[in-house]
Amino acid sequence: MIVCHCTNITDHDIRAAIDWMRTADPQTIITPGKIYHALGKSADCGGCMPLFLDTMRSDDNLKVPMQLRTLRSAATQEKAHEGRSQGHRISQQISAA
Ligand code: FES
Repeated sequence: MIVCHCTNITDHDIRAAIDWMRTADPQTIITPGKIYHALGKSADCGGCMPLFLDTMRSDDNLKVPMQLRTLRSAATQEKAHEGRSQGHRISQQISAA
């Protein structure tokens, strides 16, 4: 079935690209842009994106590798510790004193 009519990409092409990328690098994060690039094409109108993403999601090889799944929560926790502490403004420091 043709998924992208602008570039003539089929669901088989998408699955083959995902399999190829997963085999080449088991830890890679696979995106639509990487699939287009792997197939030597680039998106045009973007009208196929919902079907393109559904086709990607239906492939078992698309899943994010287990060791990369906790990166978002680790980054969120790290960000919580960044930045200024409470009461960094001079007006707050003066009123606290
Ligand atoms: S249908 Fe895929 S980019 Fe236009």
